[in-house]
Amino acid sequence: MSHSNVKHGILRYSWWTRVNHWLIAISFVLLVLSGLALFYPFFFGLTALFGGPEPTRIVHPYIGVFMSLFFVIQAVRFFGDNLIRRHDVQWMKQVRDVLANRDERLPPVGKNNAGQKLVYWIFLATVPVLLITGIVLWRPWIADDMPVWALRWAVTIHAYTAFIAIITLVIHIYSAIWVKGSIRAMTQGRVSHAWARHHHGLWYDEVRRKGGHEDPGGLSPNRDVPSKRT
Ligand code: HEM
Repeated sequence: MSHSNVKHGILRYSWWTRVNHWLIAISFVLLVLSGLALFYPFFFGLTALFGGPEPTRIVHPYIGVFMSLFFVIQAVRFFGDNLIRRHDVQWMKQVRDVLANRDERLPPVGKNNAGQKLVYWIFLATVPVLLITGIVLWRPWIADDMPVWALRWAVTIHAYTAFIAIITLVIHIYSAIWVKGSIRAMTQGRVSHAWARHHHGLWYDEVRRKGGHEDPGGLSPNRDVPSKRT
């Protein structure tokens, strides 16, 4: 199957990849809301979203397991696109250019840039820790049989790891909104040729090589180039 189509843009995420991602995203947000409600008295009011404190406690681990299952599928499918390459190191060294919108100075990158790869690896490290410590804390199934020291460790690690994951999620959402065209990629699946060439030049070349497609209309590198929102 061809990966690109001049009329509709280039396929970046298939239908299933998008559904999988949004299932993770929705359940992750629900986990954050219910988790904050359980952990911090300040957020206790959020328990109303889940029908009260007891339903919140009951539903939180089930959502966690649901999210983890879809997360595993996504992590496996995205693995190859997130291996660190030499140009990623250079991209990272130029992170000031990234933040200052000096895109023209950056080396061309593959399907994901180094920032996206970092987010992938942080999620890959944090989600399993959250799952394991969450299972230890799962009442009434597991926690009642656990020694107190294990519960103490689990609750501490769960809270700190959740903090890292939440910060990562905020950065992930911010970048998705900042780079115009990214949200469309994850909702509609396709991106324009200009977007692909501008943000992910090596990936764009690869897709065109595999699909055998010409650059439509011989667009100059900066024509129709999507900008970042600042
Ligand atoms: C409301 C929450 C979320 C929003 C708005 C969101 C948005 C997006 C968007 C727009 C992309 C496409 C970026 C591109 O191709 O340039 C993306 C990709 C991705 N998302 Fe999310 N996402 C959310 C939650 C999550 C969560 C919870 C995870 C994992 C636990 C996750 C993991 C990923 C990964 C690994 C990618 C591919 C690489 C990357 O672009 O970072 N996302 N997301």
